[in-house]
Amino acid sequence: MRDGMIPSISKDEINEMVSELAQDIERDYEGKELVLVCPLKGSVLFVADLCRKIKLPQVIDFVYLTSPRGESVRIIKDISVNVQGKHVLIIEEIIDAGRTLSFLKSRLLASFPASLKVVTLLDKPALRELAIAPDYVGRTIEDRFVIGYGMDMEEIGRNYSDIYNFAQ
Ligand code: IMP
Ligand code: MG
Repeated sequence: MRDGMIPSISKDEINEMVSELAQDIERDYEGKELVLVCPLKGSVLFVADLCRKIKLPQVIDFVYLTSPRGESVRIIKDISVNVQGKHVLIIEEIIDAGRTLSFLKSRLLASFPASLKVVTLLDKPALRELAIAPDYVGRTIEDRFVIGYGMDMEEIGRNYSDIYNFAQ
């Protein structure tokens, strides 16, 4: 553990949150096929756990977007499936300002999916810049920087099983 790291959400709590999200999604999409769209890299661990708990037919795809502060969102890797007429879920590990999500939503909507909703493990609404709200939220947290379970600080911490925040 690095200096200043405070345990925030344990792997057991994460597992519980992911199971509850999967149950809600299964109930809402019964009889349907899903396309899970995952923005790299932070959502990789979350989607790996979530997709195994959702017992519905599904296709997984990845996008890689960057949104440096003060600059517009850039596409490093676009999606590769056709989402027209599909039930699409964007799988985010955390939503902060909402810039990447807002960009991705408009881009996917332009392909006319049958439906488009957003799942996030963590929601940090305090510094939201754009009016965007996730449809499924694991937990709403304060405006603290967190790492672990896919989330990083300069690439450190993605592989941690638990989530930590930093003392301010
Ligand atoms: P935004 O919603 O466009 O500000 O950016 C969301 C993305 O920024 C997330 O998908 C994460 O990759 C990253 N991010 C936001 N807050 C945190 C954090 O507290 N820890 C690690 N990454 C974060
Ligand atoms: Mg992300």
